Formats: sequence, C-alpha cells, structure tokens
Amino acid sequence: MVLGAVNVDMVVRAPRLPAPGETVVGPGMERFGGGKGANAAVAAARAGGRVRYIGAVGDDDIGRQALRELQDDGVDTSGVLVSTASPTGVALIVVGPGGENQIAVGAGANGDVSAELVTAELARVLPGAGGVLVSTEIPEEAVAAAVRAAHGAGVRCILNPAPVVPVVAELLGLGPVLTPNAGECLALAGRPPADGAEPKRDQVLDAAHALVAVTGAEVVVTLGADGVLVVRPGGTSEHVPPRPATVRDTTGAGDTFSGVLALALARGVGLDDAVRIANAAAALSVAGEGARGGMPTADELVAAEPAAKALWNG
Ligand code: RIB
Ligand code: NA
Repeated sequence: MVLGAVNVDMVVRAPRLPAPGETVVGPGMERFGGGKGANAAVAAARAGGRVRYIGAVGDDDIGRQALRELQDDGVDTSGVLVSTASPTGVALIVVGPGGENQIAVGAGANGDVSAELVTAELARVLPGAGGVLVSTEIPEEAVAAAVRAAHGAGVRCILNPAPVVPVVAELLGLGPVLTPNAGECLALAGRPPADGAEPKRDQVLDAAHALVAVTGAEVVVTLGADGVLVVRPGGTSEHVPPRPATVRDTTGAGDTFSGVLALALARGVGLDDAVRIANAAAALSVAGEGARGGMPTADELVAAEPAAKALWNG
C-alpha cells in the first residue's frame, strides 16, 4: 500500500536554478508523471511489487492521464479518489545542469485525500498487505489515519517525511520506519540547520539517533550523493556509500529509494539488503529524465545489485 500525492510535473531544464526574483530560461518544457506517493508506487511496481496506491486526482484530462500512467506501470489505482472539487496536483520543477532541482507543488486534489477515505480503504486491504508506505504531501489527518491504521493492524509502516509536517512528530511513537533526507532528519529531531547551512554528517547522525530513541524503529537517512545513513533500534549505525551514478535528473530519487525499500521490507528482506537494493534503484533512477524515468525494472535492478534476487525468494 502506498499513500501520498500524485502530480503532473512540468519540468524546465535551465542553465541554473533561479534565485528569488530571477527568471531563468531553458529550451523547452516537458511533462512527466510525479508526486512523491505515486512515484514511490511506480518504483515498487516496476521492481516487481504488487502495489496499490491511495490518493486523489481531479476530474480532468491530466488526472486521467496520471491514472493511466500509474496503471501502465502496473499500479492498482482502484483506491484513488477522482475529486470533482479540485484540479489534479501540479508540480513546477526547474532542473539545473547538475541534475539538482527546485520544486513548487500546487496540491489541488491531493488536498482532498481525507482521513475517512484512507481509513475506509485501508480497512479493506490492510489485512493482506505486507507494508504501508506513507509520504506527507497529503493532508496531515490523512497521514495520521494511515500511520494509525497500519499500527493498529500490525502492518509495518514506512513514513517518508517529505515534506516534514507537524503531525509527523505525533506519529513517531507508533514506530514507523523513517526515510528522511538530511534536512528532514534534522528538522524532525527539532534541530534544523541554520538557514542555507549544509547539514554536517555527525549532526545528522545525532538527529537520527534521537529519532530512533522515540520510534524504536530503523531510521534510514538518504544523503543524495553521499549515500545512506542507517541507524537501528539499539543504536548501531552504518554509512552505506553511494553507488556510482550517471546523474541527469535527481527528481524522484528519494521516492524511488523509499518505494523499493518498502517493497523489500514487505517481502521480508533484511534491512541491510533492503537498503542496498533501494540504493541501487535510486542510483539507476537519476540517469533518466523525470521522476520516473530511469526507475529500474526487476531485471535491471538484479543486474545492478544481485541482492535484489531476494525480492522473489519468499
Ligand atoms: O520527489 C519528487 C516529486 O516531488 C515530484 O515528482 C513532484 O511532483 C513533487 O511531488
Ligand atoms: Na529519474
């Protein structure tokens, strides 16, 4: 089960990211499927998972296209609300020369995902689910309903706190596995870095330990080009180095990571291998344009990381 936003991404590649008040010009605009929830659902489905996505689109052409794209990737969209109240969510994305990005999201129909919808959908399908992945571009009460339902059903919950919203602090005690990036990790632990300052690795490690002390579950911090930091309950930690990657577009790398991590954990793969498999998937994803371009199929994933065979052993 994957919950979160589905957007249509409008992407301009520019010579650099614009500063406030600045206009940058690129050669054209491309449209891609996006939204952190939907991206993670596609990552898990492409890697061979049976994935059901819960979210909302508007009753419009881009919403219908967004649903078709999810279905083409094998994602079950029967739990998606088609809202007549709001248009499909849109993300305006600028990608810089190094594949870095800047994103503004107009939530649209993603804001119509209610706690009631989430609770009703999960009540129907949780008993058969291997795991629930939740990201936070939907209303806070829907996020809370999902984490609480997973906890109540004894199903493992992976919470990607992207972006960090206040309700996440209230949910930590329910023991979700967290997959923040460095900035999100610091913010969640209540130690945001000074404006513009690059988070230091030991600060991030301290913050991750502080989070594990509250959740009692694994915290897996994605560090982009610096790899992954894993802190386990009990306090052991490990730095997993980055995989070599051809970087064209880093958009969606975190979504790929959390989607494939959630799939691996749902399939009973141990944490260490699950992190390695997810790390390999994220490294492949940044070679392709758009959030979902480059996300590997099961065969591509096994070719890059033989540990991924464990996804089909059970
Ligand atoms: O994580 C990348 C995603 O963030 C994009 O696809 C965009 O839609 C935003 O949700
Ligand atoms: Na990509």
